[in-house]
Amino acid sequence: MTGISIAIDGPAGTGKSTVAREVARRLRLAYFDTGATYRVATLWCMREGVDLANQDDVTAMVETMNVRLVLDPRNPRVVLEDEDVSSLIRTDSVALTVSKVATNLEARAALGRWQREIIASEVAGGSSEGRGIVSEGRDITTVIAPDADVRILMTADEEIRVARRAGEGADLATVREAVLGRDRKDATVVSFHTAADGVHTLDTSDLTIEEAVQAVLDLVTEVRGDDAGEGGASSLEEPGIE
Ligand code: DC
Repeated sequence: MTGISIAIDGPAGTGKSTVAREVARRLRLAYFDTGATYRVATLWCMREGVDLANQDDVTAMVETMNVRLVLDPRNPRVVLEDEDVSSLIRTDSVALTVSKVATNLEARAALGRWQREIIASEVAGGSSEGRGIVSEGRDITTVIAPDADVRILMTADEEIRVARRAGEGADLATVREAVLGRDRKDATVVSFHTAADGVHTLDTSDLTIEEAVQAVLDLVTEVRGDDAGEGGASSLEEPGIE
């Protein structure tokens, strides 16, 4: 029996990562944050002193980098050259640079091949005992896994997304520019503001995380024709994947 493939796309601040991770945890699926592949590629290039404007050099680095991803939704990790860089890839220096890799079409193709392999391997068995995978990003429902069993585009009002990203005391104008500016750059190469055919739109503007999680579980139930939502909720305390 093959596992389920759930794909979730959307811009920053929609709750996509939190929801995707929680859905994976409840359904005991692998959790794949594809943004982490762009971030770790960026960190690797920065460390190796590669000129990020040189598309061929960046692509060569992406194709040869030694990265292992731990897809456990309870503790997802990114390991670069045997070093756990899960926190490092979230730093401002990476966040401010990652668009250079994300807008490099050759590098996208290379990362896309890797992402497809990971998804196929989890659907076929992999670390999640054949149960499947929840993948989230910007182009998963359209380019990477258009054949996923459940495809969702998460959206939310711009001001709400900005407010969600604004930390305590953070200057709202700076956060606004960071969130919307990155959206603009990302949107030059992938379309993630309107749902493609067959992709469900989930507007989280007025939803709590729990409501958004339930909405995704309901869609999974609908597609699978079973009690994924109920069973998932009751398996909260059970051990997940390693
Ligand atoms: O979701 P995130 O902030 O971790 O994403 C990091 C960057 O990678 C961001 O600029 C968007 C880009 N990205 C992408 O282009 N395609 C994906 N599937 C995932 C992320």
